[in-house]
Amino acid sequence: MAEEKPRQFVGSTEFKKGLEGAITNESKISYVDGANGKLIYCGYSIDDLTQGGQGFEETAYLLLHGRLPKSAELDAFKKDLAGRRTIPGEVKDFLKGVAKRCHPMSSLRSAISLLGCLNPNEFEVTVDNDMEIALTLTAQFPTVVGAIQRVRKDQPIIDPDPSLGHSEDFLHMMTGGKIEPRMAEVMDMALILHAEHGMNASTFSAMVTNSSLTDMYSSIVAGIGSLKGPLHGGANEATLKPFIEIGDPAKTETWFHNSKAEKRKVMGFGHRVYKAYDPRAVIFDPIAEEFSGKAGTSHLYEIAKKLEALVVADLGGKGIFPNVDYFSGVIYNAMGIDTDMFTPIFAVARIAGWSARILEYLPENRLFRPRAVYVGDLESGYVPIGQR
Ligand code: CMC
Repeated sequence: MAEEKPRQFVGSTEFKKGLEGAITNESKISYVDGANGKLIYCGYSIDDLTQGGQGFEETAYLLLHGRLPKSAELDAFKKDLAGRRTIPGEVKDFLKGVAKRCHPMSSLRSAISLLGCLNPNEFEVTVDNDMEIALTLTAQFPTVVGAIQRVRKDQPIIDPDPSLGHSEDFLHMMTGGKIEPRMAEVMDMALILHAEHGMNASTFSAMVTNSSLTDMYSSIVAGIGSLKGPLHGGANEATLKPFIEIGDPAKTETWFHNSKAEKRKVMGFGHRVYKAYDPRAVIFDPIAEEFSGKAGTSHLYEIAKKLEALVVADLGGKGIFPNVDYFSGVIYNAMGIDTDMFTPIFAVARIAGWSARILEYLPENRLFRPRAVYVGDLESGYVPIGQR
């Protein structure tokens, strides 16, 4: 038997895979109460924020400024964001060239990178300049995502209309035509619910990137890249697919047993922090019922509810419950939005959370630089290439 080579361990060898439970910093932005299924943004529950009727802009203001706006401040903020929605012609031309050839999240990632190239102040890393970029990107994300959708459908890009609210204009730029008030209201709720969520993978990616004092665009691009993955934001796209595949509520149980036999995870379930119902799923559930009913897709909602009962009966004891992505797909689908646009919608919301976290950390910035336990060889003995 080969002799065990010397190995070196650095620091403590105590760690949890995936940094589970690790603390990165102090923050006042949001609190995920995983045991009780509660989500708080800057001291306010998501239930109150979604019911308050002041739209995504109020939540974006809250996250970026750490307090709720007064009425005149909110009006000015809405006007400011509306005035920043336009995207440069270079970005539209770029999207016309690529948006049909790749996933919308890839188009979004590259378009945001291009916006950075076009900003002469890209490299000025100060709280003031990063706030400027945060506001402009929060305003421009819907325009970019709307343009991606239009190009993919061979339709002309629709320019922003500053007379419309953030969510209404977003839907207008994606789908064209007049947007029903209830649809805009629900998109506002969806954006509020996805705006911020603690030290999730994409937020952590954006913060780690920004901690090298690189430009804000690079950090946001890192966040988009992470959000795209199926274990994170990409799950909303992956969640709807089985509902469509099952097709008939009566077939749900067989599908679940097959999925279990193949040891596949059911997308839209489970969460690193929530070991109770994700409060965002609780808010989305009745809206999914309402919208699928109106759109004639109730069978998808019925399948979702049957699958929920089966998974919770089987895995609820392990803390596996529906997460935010479970019902959102049924709602977007009923709105007529294509499945591969679901994760970009998540990004349209999360730009507020990414920005808020970056801006909060910047004044006290310290480079993120953890270590890994080295478990490789230390003395392999170099062999010249010709003798290997
Ligand atoms: N279906 C079936 N079993 C599951 C699921 C699921 N969706 N999620 C976790 N489990 C099981 C898993 O198999 C493991 O079992 P065991 O202990 O027997 O090996 C146990 O629960 C722990 O799972 P884990 O993957 O180690 O947990 P994690 O904290 O690393 O992962 C997660 C959290 C969200 C990545 C995971 O639950 C998952 O992959 N869910 C499906 C993807 C999904 O819906 N993601 C969206 C998350 S919410 C929106 C967002 O933040 O982006």
